[in-house]
Amino acid sequence: MRADDISAAERLTGRAFASSSPSEAPERLAEQRDRWTMRLSYLLEVDGGGCWVADERGTVVGVAAAARRDLLWVLSTYAVDPSYQGRGAGKALLEAAVGYGAGCLRGMICSLSDPHAARRYRLAGFTLYPTMRLTGVVERNALPIVDGVREGTDGDLPLVDSVDRQVRGATHRPDHRILRTYGPLLVCDMLTGSGYAYLDQTGVTLLAATRRAIAQRLLWAALARSTPGTEVVVRGLTADQEWALDVGLAAGLQLGQDGYLALRHMRPPAPYIPSVPFG
Ligand SMILES: CC(C)(COP(=O)(O)OP(=O)(O)OC[C@H]1O[C@@H](n2cnc3c(N)ncnc32)[C@H](O)[C@@H]1OP(=O)(O)O)[C@@H](O)C(=O)NCCC(=O)NCCS
Repeated sequence: MRADDISAAERLTGRAFASSSPSEAPERLAEQRDRWTMRLSYLLEVDGGGCWVADERGTVVGVAAAARRDLLWVLSTYAVDPSYQGRGAGKALLEAAVGYGAGCLRGMICSLSDPHAARRYRLAGFTLYPTMRLTGVVERNALPIVDGVREGTDGDLPLVDSVDRQVRGATHRPDHRILRTYGPLLVCDMLTGSGYAYLDQTGVTLLAATRRAIAQRLLWAALARSTPGTEVVVRGLTADQEWALDVGLAAGLQLGQDGYLALRHMRPPAPYIPSVPFG
């Protein structure tokens, strides 16, 4: 992938996701397009060897972008233009992106429910864990008083790193640069354990903790910060995240099916809410 492929890649992923997933909007908003473009530019800069496009006579028809964080490989984006699917481009793109993970012990993909994507991931050796999502408007009168959670700063990143190492075996350095543009970092550091959460406009985009009770505090604190009356979404929850389901249900959110957490050589981290683009 080169920098001048990014806008074509953005357009084709918009078409591919809308055609495969009923929950995706048919048109991305300008803000979502900018966010997607910023993420791909960032990955191209940091993980150039993991970013690939399929080129059909000068037209970009597919894209795969992968990241390497410590010894964890993460697939951040993967799509083929609907009018070019079923001709081998997706298989070749995934092989190229997986090749970037050579030497990594583990792999992680937050997948949509698209059966073609699930087929590709299983054929590439990933174990598929079905995921659930929580959606809805938070019932304000269900919110408990939560103490011990505060906004994080750069000075908390060593703590965040150590939680990440313990829970998923790899840090999110240098993704904090992008995650922080989505929303604030919350931190909880107590004698009994530690954890952190990144928020975005739709809710929680990433959460990890060393204990379930800390993860629940962070999720309640995150839900309390949602704008009253607006819908929140918490995605990528395997059956290992019952601590999150219990908070979401108590907050009046609805439980639904999401997609898959596709993993290689690892079990679902817990307590953990994965970032869809950064694992
Ligand atoms: C998932 C996705 C990227 C797959 O892309 P694709 O180009 O349709 O996949 P392919 O054509 O490579 O694979 C389909 C089959 O066609 C075969 N094929 C057909 N013609 C071929 C050719 N000329 N050369 C090689 N293989 C060919 C492939 O070998 C593969 O067979 P297999 O599944 O038995 O191995 C695509 O379906 C997509 O964009 N989905 C929507 C977006 C999405 O959900 N992305 C994942 C987000 S997590």
